[in-house]
Amino acid sequence: MSDPRPYRLEPSPDEMRAMLEQVTDRIIDHIESLSDQPASYDTDGRAVARAFTETLPAEGTDLPILLDRIFEEAVPHSFNTAGPGYLAYIPGGGVFPSAVADLIANAINRYVGVWVAAPALVQIELNVVRWFCEIVGFGEGSGGILTSGGSLSNLTAIVAARRERLGDDLAGGVMYTSDQTHHSVRKSAVLAGFPESAVRQIETNEHQEIRIDRLQAAVTEDRAAGRRPFLIVGSAGTTNTGAVDDLEALADLAERDDLWLHVDGAYGGFFALTERGREAMTGLDRADSVTLDPHKGLFLPYGTGALLVRDEGALRRAHATFADYMPVMQHDPDFVDFCDLSAELSRDFRGLRIWLPVKLFGIDAFRASLDEKLDLARWVTEQIRAVPELEIVTEPRLSLVSFRLRDDEDDHATRDLLSAINARQNVYVTGTMVDGRFAIRICVLSFRTHMDRMELCMSDIRDAVTEVIGTD
Ligand SMILES: Cc1ncc(COP(=O)(O)O)c(C=O)c1O
Repeated sequence: MSDPRPYRLEPSPDEMRAMLEQVTDRIIDHIESLSDQPASYDTDGRAVARAFTETLPAEGTDLPILLDRIFEEAVPHSFNTAGPGYLAYIPGGGVFPSAVADLIANAINRYVGVWVAAPALVQIELNVVRWFCEIVGFGEGSGGILTSGGSLSNLTAIVAARRERLGDDLAGGVMYTSDQTHHSVRKSAVLAGFPESAVRQIETNEHQEIRIDRLQAAVTEDRAAGRRPFLIVGSAGTTNTGAVDDLEALADLAERDDLWLHVDGAYGGFFALTERGREAMTGLDRADSVTLDPHKGLFLPYGTGALLVRDEGALRRAHATFADYMPVMQHDPDFVDFCDLSAELSRDFRGLRIWLPVKLFGIDAFRASLDEKLDLARWVTEQIRAVPELEIVTEPRLSLVSFRLRDDEDDHATRDLLSAINARQNVYVTGTMVDGRFAIRICVLSFRTHMDRMELCMSDIRDAVTEVIGTD
């Protein structure tokens, strides 16, 4: 029998409805069970991945079979990054309206790279960028772009700083980070055309914050040697321990020495929505550029970053170019052609993924959730402090605390403790090195993490301590 649909790639209205219904059921079941799902997986990842290897299919397969494969066979073998127990690396979450927004954005598939193609949709995304500028304290003339994440935001910032401060000649250009700066900055420096030796890693103090005296000395020394210092990268929440650099002091130094100041707020930046966060990040508004990661601190799905600049012109000067087949670009300051500010031309409509939940819930709902994370991190810190066998390694400046077992000279027992905590599958935490010693870090950032999960986390930590010390 011949296929009733003349064009296989165009489902009928009934088929589309059926597809959405089938998917809706699966998604809701999945989200409803997130808190009961294990925090990570204990199967052999290689075997699972190999079982998923497949050849290019010539024929189609029915949707329910494919959904089984995704939801029942693939998803269970993964970190439960969307669940309340994910306290590893830097958590995110994935608020549901963003998924709805992506469905809409992909279904309408309008083009937002150039203004003329969809002026109102571009304006929706521009509103989001301007809200973010407001959050970090940037005023008139500021702007930015939405990226796929913090790494691409940091790269874009370096490209803008390079163009503004060095022009076309990169020779002798030197930039300054701390020994705690996210590794994407070093990677970006190389991608932007600098040798690794052009990236100075300045020592940090006992709070893992960049040492301003060492930074000043390095800048002075480089200048005296005829090199061209052009960029400082500060951190508003390091990935390692959540440290926040002294942003006021960095801004003073950058101003004095005529350097571009970029602040990587991929983890911490959205805490500027809260009073405590704003206090910790005083000086953020004096940066030339700021990385924010909505897929971290605004609880959005992965693939949503932002770079904001105090002077939108800097992004334009670094990226704007022209071709005969392109439409005329905007010169009206009220509007923007995003392709003029970014390396990307065609891309997804990221703005809707942010706009929809912020409009639906209001920003106060996000602010309250971030405040809750600050409280939970402080609560768990005090609980850990009360366990005699444990010691706090770094206090939470925002929502990240690290700790270890006392009297564990070779770090073995603390590593065992990490495994014992994670083996209980209620939470997933990760380890790192602080001052050359192994530490377990807890980062509270998911909108789904509440007190009940933190209590479970503490009870698992106490049980794991007994297990590890008892078997030592
Ligand atoms: C401080 C910081 N900067 C940059 C990044 C890189 O961001 P992304 O993973 O979104 O590329 C991260 C990621 O965790 C981060 O914590």
